[in-house]
Amino acid sequence: MAQQITKAVIPAAGLGTRLLPSTKSQPKEMLPVGRKPILQYVVEELQAAALRQILIITGRRKRVIEDHFDSDPQLVLALEQAGNETVLADLAYLEGKSRFFYTRQSTPKGLGHAISLGADFVDSDDFVVALGDSLIAAEDPAAPLQAMMDAHRQLRATAIVAVEKVPSEEAFRYGIVNIDGEEPPPGEPVAMTDIVEKPPTGTAPTTLAVAARYVFSPAIFEALNRTLPDKRGEIQLTDAIRLLIHKGEPVYAWLLSPDQRRYDVGNFESYFRTFIDFALADERYGYLVRKYIKAKAYEL
Ligand code: UTP
Repeated sequence: MAQQITKAVIPAAGLGTRLLPSTKSQPKEMLPVGRKPILQYVVEELQAAALRQILIITGRRKRVIEDHFDSDPQLVLALEQAGNETVLADLAYLEGKSRFFYTRQSTPKGLGHAISLGADFVDSDDFVVALGDSLIAAEDPAAPLQAMMDAHRQLRATAIVAVEKVPSEEAFRYGIVNIDGEEPPPGEPVAMTDIVEKPPTGTAPTTLAVAARYVFSPAIFEALNRTLPDKRGEIQLTDAIRLLIHKGEPVYAWLLSPDQRRYDVGNFESYFRTFIDFALADERYGYLVRKYIKAKAYEL
C-alpha cells in the first residue's frame, strides 16, 4: 500500500502580467481576497489536507511570500498580550502544521518548468500540486484534495487531475481533458484519454477544464524532462500529462462537485469576482458587504 502523501508543491513564480500594475512589485499570489492573501488560503487548504511539507516555487519580486509564511513570535506575543484572539486565529497557519521550503524559478519558463524544480524536494514520493493563484471554495476546501489523494492511492495512479465544468464558449481559456464515454459524476475518478491546452474555439473535446489541483507520482518529472517548449518557449504541464497518457500511464480526471468551486485570479475580471464572492462569504464582514451590495444594486 502506498504511503500517505505529505508533500505539496505550490508554483507561484509566474509574472502575473495580466494583473499589472497590481503585480509590478507584488506577487499575484499575495493579492488579498477578503481578509487574506490568496496564497494563505491555498496553504490552509493544504494544511487541512495534512500536507506537512510545502515547497513554494517563487521568483523575482516574490520575497514577501517567505515573510508571510515565516513565524513571528513577537507579533504573536503582542497579540496574546492584547487578548486579540480573532487575529491570532487568522495566524494559525504559522503554528507548525507544516514546514515551508522555497526554491526560485529565475526565469518563468512555464508551469511545467516550475514544477520540475520540485524534483529534489519530492524525491521518490507521490505529491500534490496546488496552483498559487487558484482557490477552492467549498464547505470543506480540503475535501477535494483528500479524496483525490485517496483515489491516487487506491488506483495506483500516476496522476489525478481535478476538473470542473465550464461553459463551452469559455473552453478556449483552459486546459481541457478528454475521456471515453459519458461525463463522470463528481468525485469519481475517470480515465483520461487526452488533454489539450487552450483549444481553439469549437474544437474542445469536452467542457471539463483542469482546475488547479493535481496529485502526481514522481513519474511526472521524467515526462516534464521529455516535454518540449511550446511556441512561447514555455514547458507546459498539460503537455507532460499528455505524454503520460500516451505512454499508457494511469491518469484520471476527478470532477469537482457543483458546491466545490475553483476560483482563478489570473485576470481582473476573475479577481474582482473572487474578491466579491469571498467578501460576501466572510463570516465576520459578509453581512455588511451583502447590505452594501444590495443598497448599491439600486444605483446600477
Ligand atoms: P499563469 O500562467 O496563470 O500565471 O500560471 P502567470 O504566468 O503569472 O500569468 P500572466 O499570464 O503573466 O498574467 C498559473 C500559476 O503557475 C505559476 C503562477 O505563479 C501561477 O500561480 N507559474 C506560471 C509559475 O510558477 N511559473 C511559470 O513560469 C508560470
